[in-house]
Amino acid sequence: MVTVEVIIVPTPAETGAVAADAIEALYRDRPDAVLGVATGSSPLAIYAELAHRVSDGRLNLTRATAFLLDEYVGLPTEHPERYRNVVERDFVARVDIPTASVHGPDGRADDLPAACTAYEDAIMDAGGVDLQILGVGTDGHIAFNEPGSSLASRTRIKTLTSQTRRDNARFFGDDVEAVPRHCLTQGIATIMAARHLVLVASGRGKAEAVHQLVEGPISAMWPATILQMHPRATVVVDAAAASRLALAGYYAETYAAKPTWQGL
Ligand code: GLP
Repeated sequence: MVTVEVIIVPTPAETGAVAADAIEALYRDRPDAVLGVATGSSPLAIYAELAHRVSDGRLNLTRATAFLLDEYVGLPTEHPERYRNVVERDFVARVDIPTASVHGPDGRADDLPAACTAYEDAIMDAGGVDLQILGVGTDGHIAFNEPGSSLASRTRIKTLTSQTRRDNARFFGDDVEAVPRHCLTQGIATIMAARHLVLVASGRGKAEAVHQLVEGPISAMWPATILQMHPRATVVVDAAAASRLALAGYYAETYAAKPTWQGL
């Protein structure tokens, strides 16, 4: 058994189906479970699956609560790339979770440190996150915990790296200058407190980050490597994102031989 369970599937769409299976199983057991939601392209396959399963009656999220990982600082309330709006569009509007049950850090607060503390309290008051959906940046960041982030960090203000701003410029009309410089993000310790972490990644651009995350030394230089310390972390990747894994064959054998009763 490896520290992180790695599941390699042929296509990005299948990463969504595997992650949605874990979410469906969680809500079958606990209809009021707390879901951690992520932005970016990687979780889109998950949200598409969840939408499908809600519409055919396999999944019911009416009693769910959700928390976002992060938010840009200073974007106007109606800005389409404000993460609260992104999650509304990509996830909330397509399933049956009430909008009022979805929470994010307030990137427009006058007192940003107070907003970070309030966010930590809100997660705690909800009983903590049961299943956290994660993507990974090309530089190994999770949420907006950039390389060099404290592995013990809690929700706080961060400055985005130029690489992340370049990566995310595609959502801002390819204009890097339009990407905010600051964000609020759950810290690494906040994320690690979730009971199950499900990270999805696809495409060759993520191959090095996935290799480091699963097989590299744990280091603040690749924040996602902290998942190796989590008691229940599942990494679901497509073949391209798995292409740099040294032990890909072993992960495939392990998963193929996994008893079905074990679930994810
Ligand atoms: C952003 C988000 C992260 C996300 C990352 C990768 O920086 N804050 O939560 O994991 O991008 O995004 P994508 O899935 O689009 O590659």
